[in-house]
Amino acid sequence: MQLNPSSPIGVFDSGVGGLTVVRALMERLPFENIVYFGDTARVPYGVKSVETISHYTTQIAEFLLAKEVKMLIVACNTMAAVASQVVKDLSPVPVLDVIDAGALGALATSGKKQVGVIGTPTTINSNAYARAIHHYEPGVRIYSQACPLFVPLVEEGWLDHPVTRLTAQEYLKPVLAQDIDTLVLGCTHYPLLKPLLQEVAGPAVRLVDSAEAMADRAAALLGEMHLANPQRGSPTYHYYVTDVPLRFQTIGERFLGRTLANVHVVKW
Ligand code: DGL
Repeated sequence: MQLNPSSPIGVFDSGVGGLTVVRALMERLPFENIVYFGDTARVPYGVKSVETISHYTTQIAEFLLAKEVKMLIVACNTMAAVASQVVKDLSPVPVLDVIDAGALGALATSGKKQVGVIGTPTTINSNAYARAIHHYEPGVRIYSQACPLFVPLVEEGWLDHPVTRLTAQEYLKPVLAQDIDTLVLGCTHYPLLKPLLQEVAGPAVRLVDSAEAMADRAAALLGEMHLANPQRGSPTYHYYVTDVPLRFQTIGERFLGRTLANVHVVKW
């Protein structure tokens, strides 16, 4: 299949959280057009079954492929954890997922090879980060912790709130007790908690932001495949959501750090 370098990159997530990946992509690849899909009607995915997530993921990937994207990016850690292969099997265009990017980021960061991973319950139960890290380096010790309260706290905007701080101290206690030097933020929402998590984890622990790791991977792959957009005009950004966009718009602007235009509602 001949791919067109001017085509957009397709990025998708269970809702608004994947905009942290879009933000990192916009900064890293300022000339790329992007089509984003957020399944705002069915979020959260982090507590749903593998079957349900796989079914939703297939629908979204097919939607974006119909938009003639040149690359698919699974921004949602939960989808990447349990349905990344489903996307790779059906896609004629290259597929990148945040877990692989986060795993490589962790390996590049950790000197002690003692890594903590935090994410939604589905992501942590799937063991996907451990598998991805061990695929590259089997000897790494991995300590995981599900942090289900972080997603609603971030969506509430409580990024530096005493409740969030206490919650983080509680969640991170067992992981920090393991002498880790690296902590992977294995969920789209967690990059927004970076300053707070860094304070709780202390200076000896380095945080791996899988959104940034993903932007680096995407840039490298576009280069290798000669698929970088040669056009130097302002890129276009389109956002598709499955529920009324009001909340997406408000929270999305916080995630993206800029105003959000071109939001379209998809009726399935
Ligand atoms: N996007 C999800 C993730 O990265 C978090 C929100 C959800 O549970 O759907 O795991």
